[in-house]
Amino acid sequence: MRIAIAPTEAEGTAIAARVLMERFEQGKALGVATGSTPLGLYEKLREAHAAGEFTLSGSSAYALDEYIGIDADHPERYRNVLATELVGEDKTGLKDEDLYTPDGLADDPAQAAADYEEAIAPGVDLQILGIGSDGHIGFNEPGGSLASRTHIGVLTEQTRTDNARFFDNDIDKVPTHCLTQGLATIMGAKKLLLLAFGEKKAEAMKQVIEGPVSAFWPGTILQHHPDVTIVLDEAAAGKLQLADYYKAIWDSWNK
Ligand code: GLP
Repeated sequence: MRIAIAPTEAEGTAIAARVLMERFEQGKALGVATGSTPLGLYEKLREAHAAGEFTLSGSSAYALDEYIGIDADHPERYRNVLATELVGEDKTGLKDEDLYTPDGLADDPAQAAADYEEAIAPGVDLQILGIGSDGHIGFNEPGGSLASRTHIGVLTEQTRTDNARFFDNDIDKVPTHCLTQGLATIMGAKKLLLLAFGEKKAEAMKQVIEGPVSAFWPGTILQHHPDVTIVLDEAAAGKLQLADYYKAIWDSWNK
């Protein structure tokens, strides 16, 4: 794992944008995450696109997950969130028909999961990831299979509480089910770029970086991936035992 620990979220976001623009092969498939964490990164990509330094024109983008049963025009439907952030010449150049999201409105969600798994094969070039406070990536909640493929997931109470802020702070409005890339699907990406900011993520990041690999902290599976870059701020790195060592390594490679 390559671990960058930035003083602030803004500086971490700038590092993540640099890593993505250096390492994502334009024209290939980019795995895109939702949640609030990558929003600053998407803003940087839009700026770089406006400056003519980066484009997703000619690339495709694949979402990690989608709520099941959310209204087609709901602003928190992940397809809509990602389209708002990325689609169009005035955004990153990504075309709407090149944005793939699991079909949370399908009559047969299990079939939609299988279809998505097929669409994403053999895996994206670079997958952007955030992480839930309970260590979930995508919507792979604690206790799920470490070898899962795209599937129907049930959100934990913790995740629905965390995400209630996007639904008028009303947990009853947060969907209960989702379609999510599985952990094995995510592990199929050539490169992974995980961002985590804030104290609320500190325990999850301690587990992901220094804990034992366990279905109880799904993000710990990343320890088995050969090409992971993790960008943290000081708050999210607050529980790491070897933070100074990781900083020294990062500095020695990024002089
Ligand atoms: C949601 C998404 C995850 C995301 C997580 C963290 O549950 N399904 O992909 O990583 O939220 O969200 P945030 O970045 O807002 O903390």
